[in-house]
Amino acid sequence: MSIFAQPIEWDEQLIQRYDLAGPRYTSYPTAPQFQESFSQSALFRAIVRSNLAHRPLSLYFHIPFCDSLCYYCGCNKIVTNNRGRSLPYVQRMIQELSLYADMFEPGKEVQQLHWGGGTPTFISDQEMSLLMNATRRLFKFADDKSGEFAIEIHPAKVSSNTMAHLRHLGFNRVSMGVQDFDAHVQQAVNRYNTYEQVAKLTNALRAQQYQSISMDLIYGLPLQNQQSLRETLQKVIDLGPDRLSLFNYAHMPHLFKSQGLIRTEDLPCSAEKLAMLHGAIETLQNAGYVYIGMDHFAKPDDDLVIAQQQGQLQRNFQGYSTHSNCDLLAVGVSSISMIDNVYVQNARDLNTYQQKMDMGLLPVSKGFTLNQEDLLRRFVINRLICYCELPFHEIARIFDINPRDHFRRELQQLAPMIDDGLITIDSNGIKVLNKGRLLIRRICMVFDEYLSHAASKVQPIRYSKII
Ligand SMILES: C[S@@+](CC[C@H](N)C(=O)[O-])C[C@H]1O[C@@H](n2cnc3c(N)ncnc32)[C@H](O)[C@@H]1O
Ligand code: SF4
Repeated sequence: MSIFAQPIEWDEQLIQRYDLAGPRYTSYPTAPQFQESFSQSALFRAIVRSNLAHRPLSLYFHIPFCDSLCYYCGCNKIVTNNRGRSLPYVQRMIQELSLYADMFEPGKEVQQLHWGGGTPTFISDQEMSLLMNATRRLFKFADDKSGEFAIEIHPAKVSSNTMAHLRHLGFNRVSMGVQDFDAHVQQAVNRYNTYEQVAKLTNALRAQQYQSISMDLIYGLPLQNQQSLRETLQKVIDLGPDRLSLFNYAHMPHLFKSQGLIRTEDLPCSAEKLAMLHGAIETLQNAGYVYIGMDHFAKPDDDLVIAQQQGQLQRNFQGYSTHSNCDLLAVGVSSISMIDNVYVQNARDLNTYQQKMDMGLLPVSKGFTLNQEDLLRRFVINRLICYCELPFHEIARIFDINPRDHFRRELQQLAPMIDDGLITIDSNGIKVLNKGRLLIRRICMVFDEYLSHAASKVQPIRYSKII
């Protein structure tokens, strides 16, 4: 039986021993390595290579506005009630997209589209049409059956009419932030969406023939406990989303000011948090969900599970994702693109973003060009985090190296993990065992050159704990 179909093996002692702070590997190298000295000519050359390879595109739009503040939020957002702010922003995103459209080959196909936030439905229905029609004018879209066109929604902040409008514009997937249904928890984090609202919206989305519904939950929120999380999970399972994300609440008030509004004494202790995670994984697996890895679950017939079986899964800024053959072009404030061998990040603050656009410049603030060693390590980390294995013959063939020589130091560092039953290593490669799945980030960290350069400085300030 594939490791992904097996019930998770829980070893509390091991989890506690290996649970260091570490990156989530939505990119490699991770964002702290991006450099302000990055030259845009590297981006232009990457776009030329993307064109030569005729790679399709995945487009991401970051819409940062929210009309209320969820205290736990670690996203890049702007809380405002001023709806007048959205049109000038949408216009600048269109302007940015037009600059890129001129650089990409004509007819480049968009196979994936994602509007994230913030709350993308903060913008009006007319502004949604404006943005989507402009995108369709500038790029060719895959059809509704093969393309994935998704939007993040806050279920209490969007009407079913707007969702029908979005379906009409071409969206076929929804990612819904549920977080927790418990009224006390909702109050403690200032985030409200009732079960009735979510159930009604979910039914409407099904009637509107959205192909996939995903729900986000968080564990470790204030006033949450095993019992309350179990009740939330049961309600979510009854609603039957195709995919589920269960995020570990990252409490880092030094980075996210609003988290200071959460009373530390209301936070569950680490033993309770671990028990919540354990219970949640068991409950979801018993309900028939496949544990894809880290924080993602999906129904066995979902595209994410199929992509994992067919070797087409990737990890990017949206977590686990399909369409690993695409380059990612991201527009809007703070968004990060991944094209060929470069990452580029836009200005993180709205004024700078808008000023650059008004000067007709690309709003890029940082970037990173991966060298051959970075590409190899990105491949290795992606392989381990998506498939729990690293076949040596594959990296030998693709990167023309002898993996045992090249990774001599790393293989030595992995030795204690073999003794602890997290992995096996033989002449064929590395296999992550069931017990190692929850600690996959810790296994990947061994291959992260930037962490090992920083030696013991594992940057606990920037990264949350693994579990
Ligand atoms: C990019 S956010 C935007 C979602 C959307 N605005 C909403 O609130 O429904 C995506 C998800 O990240 C998760 N999230 C946000 N802040 C978090 C934090 N501090 N720790 C863990 N997960 C977090 C939430 O589950 C949220 O739904
Ligand atoms: S969780 Fe979503 S709605 Fe809440 S503040 Fe963050 S981005 Fe906005």
